[in-house]
Amino acid sequence: MRVLGIAGSPRRGGNTDLLLAEFMRGAASKGVEVKTFVLNDLDIAPCQHCDACLKAGKCRIDDDMQMVYRELEQADLIVLASPIQFTGVTAQMKTMIDRLQALWARKYVLKIPPLGDERERKGFFISVGGRKVANLFEPALEMVKTVFRILNITYAGELLFRGIDEKGAIKSHPDALLQAFMAGQKLVEE
Ligand SMILES: Cc1cc2nc3c(=O)[nH]c(=O)nc-3n(C[C@H](O)[C@H](O)[C@H](O)COP(=O)(O)O)c2cc1C
Repeated sequence: MRVLGIAGSPRRGGNTDLLLAEFMRGAASKGVEVKTFVLNDLDIAPCQHCDACLKAGKCRIDDDMQMVYRELEQADLIVLASPIQFTGVTAQMKTMIDRLQALWARKYVLKIPPLGDERERKGFFISVGGRKVANLFEPALEMVKTVFRILNITYAGELLFRGIDEKGAIKSHPDALLQAFMAGQKLVEE
């Protein structure tokens, strides 16, 4: 089993980074392979809506997204981690998501499996936001669930923490990091 973590925050060692690292540590403790991409360190251009993918079933932009496509195909559990920025995911995460249009094209235009095969994959979402409003995560959740649905990835849950703003503030939460570790263990056992 392979677990792919995708970190969307520009802040290294920030709150979602820490949560994702704990999730991956939990998963790794069960003996599975884990890999994490930090989107901010990758060279991923925005989708140009050239529509080349509608015929080719792949994106013609030759950048680090090609590596992300390959890892997504190989993964059994995919964890997206992004803080809330202006009610949505970060620009880094949104840029990566838009490039998944090539996989949308496979499924809806070319009628082939978006990730190359039909085996079951699971998806998990980790997020934090500085505010404490009740509907803080709704727009991002809607987007993330849509992404997983389009890729035929079964939505397996989320960890969301409100009122977390300063870098590292998640460490002061009573059990957020433990929850992330345990979620990593649980998801690979299911
Ligand atoms: C550009 C920007 C926009 C933000 N927008 C929101 C927002 O709409 N709602 C919110 O609750 N927090 C917002 N925040 C705060 C972050 O979600 C918060 O600081 C979070 O802890 C950052 O997580 P990280 O350390 O993983 O990057 C924003 C922060 C930045 C830098």
